[in-house]
Amino acid sequence: MNKLIVGLIVLTGAFATSCAYADGDAARGKKIFEECAACHSLEKGVNAVGPTLHGVFERKAGELTEFRYSPAMKRSALPWSARTMDIFLTDPQQEIKGNRMPYSGIANANDRADLIEYLRTATK
Ligand code: HEC
Repeated sequence: MNKLIVGLIVLTGAFATSCAYADGDAARGKKIFEECAACHSLEKGVNAVGPTLHGVFERKAGELTEFRYSPAMKRSALPWSARTMDIFLTDPQQEIKGNRMPYSGIANANDRADLIEYLRTATK
């Protein structure tokens, strides 16, 4: 295969990945959230092992004053969006090194897209 074709395939792949969360399936995402629910509530002010995810897309990483985050999470101050959430959930320890979320991540891009689609409305 020539280089141009290879390049085009790589580009198309990257584009598909970056758009993946636009067409997630919220019903499937709700099932996937059961894994998160062991530690995260979606209710305002209800923190558990992890901070509540209520309103998460309107805040930055480590922003809730009533939850004791790791210094790493606070320092990152990552603004939460569909995109940053997608990157974080792929490999939480890689993206924010030293954070204390004991979760290995979701390798499958479709699963992440579905979960994020669910979170978009469920965290409001
Ligand atoms: C075993 C418990 C546990 C599980 C399971 C878990 N988390 Fe967490 N999560 C935490 C903890 C603890 C923190 C705080 C980490 C820190 O301060 O370093 C956290 C932090 C976060 C944050 C940052 C929130 C903020 O206020 O900045 C997000 C977003 C998040 N988790 C999403 C998820 C999602 C989505 C899932 C499911 C795919 C998940 N977590 C699964 C424990 C968990």
